[in-house]
Amino acid sequence: MHSSLPVYVNSLRVGLKLKGMRECKVSRTAMDNPLMLMIPGPTPVPEQVLLASAQPPISHRSLEFQTLMAQVTADLKWLHQTQNDVLILASSGTGAMEAGILNFLSPGDRVLVGCNGKFGERWANLCDKFGLITERITAPWGCPLDPQAFRRHLEADQAKQIKAMIVTHSETSTGVLNDLAAIAQAVTVHAQALVIVDAVTSLGVCPVPVDTWGLDVVVSASQKGYRMPPGLGFVAVSPKAWQAYTTAQFPRFYFDLGEYQKAAATHTTPFTPPINLFFALQASLGMMRSQGLAALFSHQQRLMQATRAAMRALDLPLFVPTDTLASPAVTAIAPEHVDPEQLRSQLQKQYGVVIAPGQDHLRGKLLRIGHLGHICERDILTTVAALEATLSDLGHKIQPGEGIQAVRCCFDQI
Ligand SMILES: Cc1ncc(COP(=O)(O)O)c(C=O)c1O
Repeated sequence: MHSSLPVYVNSLRVGLKLKGMRECKVSRTAMDNPLMLMIPGPTPVPEQVLLASAQPPISHRSLEFQTLMAQVTADLKWLHQTQNDVLILASSGTGAMEAGILNFLSPGDRVLVGCNGKFGERWANLCDKFGLITERITAPWGCPLDPQAFRRHLEADQAKQIKAMIVTHSETSTGVLNDLAAIAQAVTVHAQALVIVDAVTSLGVCPVPVDTWGLDVVVSASQKGYRMPPGLGFVAVSPKAWQAYTTAQFPRFYFDLGEYQKAAATHTTPFTPPINLFFALQASLGMMRSQGLAALFSHQQRLMQATRAAMRALDLPLFVPTDTLASPAVTAIAPEHVDPEQLRSQLQKQYGVVIAPGQDHLRGKLLRIGHLGHICERDILTTVAALEATLSDLGHKIQPGEGIQAVRCCFDQI
């Protein structure tokens, strides 16, 4: 490396420029991408997973691929804590959501959709577009959905016309973790409706025990808790949902999940899969499995608690003030004495730390720190240190080190 080139130091991952160093061992990822992603997806990806994908593609009609497919399918069932089918699509999360509607419902069906953020509203918009009769169960953005509201609607539906209730578990736009267990429980008063769930930022981040909670259709995507690049969508399908599939009337072709189920029986896919992403999936699920579910989830709790403690210490108000309602994937703050967009842009420009803005009407009002995927304690410390420095650069009176101290206390305790 030429000595006059700025050198990005991977160990800090903050984009510090050191001049005049003759030689520095810097990882390729840090050189190629000096920005540190602290957004709620895409997330950082472990080098082991990136390297796994850097192999020559193999035939998807080979024994080698069948072995790979059998392995990742078993690991996906483990992650979902289910005996149900878990199917793999070449799509983003929204593609998996669309597949979750068009395979199990028919035009004119009544559905209940939980709306307390952008992704709940995405479900409702999707249902509207498909000609479903969409009834919204709403809560203000930043507040959780009320399980009793679902229960009341289902109880009132004596004619059993409601075909599904649709819920976003971790609402990425606000950082709320909806009480999915209680909402899913509400369906027991009805028995007919399917429970369709967006677990895009909860799967791999906190427990989503699909069988125990009785979830019929669960969608997720690779670029979140899976610690993978974007490109794969996942749909878990219960026997009850497969029953609904037999009468569902929407036209379907590429996203016909019956075709994926048929192909999965012989450990393959109906269409050419993104094979290199399957290599990555095998590596990432293998890493997760060796860590274990309990350790995965407690790690996420630690990161969330430390981030929240730091925000409190830095006087940056939490958008979801109650810890038990907070998503372990993302922490949203609503700064009062500092312009969120200025803070975000300085943080990135000066220190190379990327956090996410608010979405829709909360753009310019919220900031969102992602702490899911391949994120560790060091990343939280770095982000908080960079936030402190940025606040100080912008002329805000903060006690240097207060946020860091809060993080350290948290890590010592949990
Ligand atoms: C909760 C939730 N649902 C759905 C999506 C949509 O996923 P994608 O952008 O992969 O289509 C996202 C993406 O951020 C999300 O966070």
